[in-house]
Order: sequence, then C-alpha cells, then structure tokens
Amino acid sequence: MPGGKVISTLNMKGGVGKTTITAHVMRILFNQHKKKILLVDLDPQFNLTQCLRTRAAYEALKKANKTVFAAMEPPSDVGLFDVATTHHAPPDAESLAVRLWHFKDGSAHLDLLPGNFELVKYSLISDSGKLAAVQKRFLHFIANARQKYDLVVIDCNPSSSFITLCALHACSHILVPVKPDRYSMLGLELLADFLDRIPTIHPKPEIAVLLNGIPRTNYDPFTENELRAHPVFGPKVLTNKLKKSKLLEAHSGYTGFATDKPVPYRALLATEIGEIASELVQKWNI
Ligand SMILES: Nc1ncnc2c1ncn2[C@@H]1O[C@H](COP(=O)(O)OP(=O)(O)OP(=O)(O)O)[C@@H](O)[C@H]1O
Ligand SMILES: [Mg+2]
Repeated sequence: MPGGKVISTLNMKGGVGKTTITAHVMRILFNQHKKKILLVDLDPQFNLTQCLRTRAAYEALKKANKTVFAAMEPPSDVGLFDVATTHHAPPDAESLAVRLWHFKDGSAHLDLLPGNFELVKYSLISDSGKLAAVQKRFLHFIANARQKYDLVVIDCNPSSSFITLCALHACSHILVPVKPDRYSMLGLELLADFLDRIPTIHPKPEIAVLLNGIPRTNYDPFTENELRAHPVFGPKVLTNKLKKSKLLEAHSGYTGFATDKPVPYRALLATEIGEIASELVQKWNI
C-alpha cells in the first residue's frame, strides 16, 4: 500500500493500555523522530479524546462534525438504526483533525481525529450492505490520510466488532499491548486466529507485541519468558517494555500527555518511552 504506515493499537482484551500507548508512545515518537502523525480515536468510549481534550473543547468539535464519525458517514439525521450514504468522497483528514503539537518549521505535527459515541450504532445495525458502505468510506478516508501523514495510528475498542474489522482492513501494522498475566498468550492466539479467518484482510498486517505495566520492583518474569519463548509470538515481542508509572495512570483532573506534565520523573518516563518509539521506528521502518 502506498503512503505512510497505518498502525492499529489492538487487543480484544480491555484495559491493557491500548489508549495509553497510542497517546504516549506516539507523542514521543513525534518529538524525537519528527514525523507527521494522525491519531484516530476509533473507540466509541473515546478515552483517547477525553485524555487529550477538555469536555468543552470536545463538545465544540462534535458540533462542528469534526470527529471520526465524519470518516464513516456524511452528516444526516438517519438516527441510530440506519446509515447515511453518499457518492461524495469523505472529508480530508487534515480538515477534520485537531492539531495537538507541531514543529515551528512545519516539518512535523501530531494531530488527533476525535472519537464519537455514535460509532456504537454499528453494533446495532445488521444490514451488511449498509455496513459495507461505511467501511468503504472509512478505508477511502484512511487511504487519503496516509498520503498526508507518515503515520496513522488507530486506537481500537476492546472487542471484535464491525469497527475492529474496519481498523484491521485499514492497517499495515498491529501493535498489541499485553500485560504480563496468564491470559495474555491466549489473547494473542485469539487475535492471530481471528486475522487468519478473515480472507479479505490481505496481506496480513505485521504484528508487534508491547509488554505493558511491568512492575519496577519484585517483578516475576515468568509470563514474559514464556511469551518470548513462544515459537510464533516470541519474535514479535518488542525488546523494550513499558513499565508501570504513576504518571501514566489516568487522572480525571488533568488533560494532556503525561510526559508534558511538569512533574518529577517526567524525563525518566519520556526516556523509557523514547526507547520503545525508537525500536518501533527501526522495526517498521517508519
Ligand atoms: N504503564 C502503565 N502504568 C500505569 N498505568 C497504566 C499503564 N498503562 C495503562 N495504565 C492505566 O491502566 C488503565 C487502562 O489503560 P488504557 O485505558 O490505556 O487501556 P485500554 O486497553 O485502552 O482500555 P480499553 O480496553 O478500555 O480501551 C488506565 O487507567 C491507564 O491510565
Ligand atoms: Mg482504550
């Protein structure tokens, strides 16, 4: 596929750090490697958007139709149980996205396409023809976006739903956050099996596994060692891991990236995340 890489941050399991990693690894990757990056909030819970924008700012964007929903459907009043279609092309990604950071020389920027709870409608609609039109528009939108950005990163919801399928059809790479617990291997096997069973996803996206939430003390590496020894998934596990960090814990009173917060340990966390970002850039030739 021509253009920039498209990464889906995905694990069918909830709470493993998909949103945290999408935000913070890409924030540092943008800064250290000067890339044009679009973050797409494809989770109807839109935690990524809530982490980065205030409620008031988000409401204004939603009112202006500047959310991911515009990449799926044209504006309409069809409601929750129907889909609006059009022959017109989807809007341009840069016109919908919010600029979060940029370099003054214009060489790089970090943008966010905000999420939208409206996406839940796709789990209420069973008409495959209508859903196919939505997927087609989303794929068209992402194909255009990768002409403008070095990297498009899609924060997925924790289930195997229609929108997960949209992300899987759109992406060239999958970043799978995994917590070192005994269910992690099963989750990976399920994801690989799911991918294998969808013939329309071709070629298969390349997978990398990022261990997340590693305790800083008294860490028992049993599960990690087991994962690294796995014949299929072992070689896909990144060398660098994301450790547990108080700064990364979601705080309702703070809006923005944890590594931009002027607090102690920010620099250490940024350095640790920087090693993950550099490994990804090298591994996937970003
Ligand atoms: N390395 C970490 N250190 C500390 N807290 C973390 C870390 N990674 C994630 N968390 C916290 O764990 C919780 C779940 O993380 P996150 O929301 O990123 O997971 P998710 O996979 O996106 O969840 P969901 O499946 O609901 O979308 C959040 O409160 C987040 O702040
Ligand atoms: Mg999430």
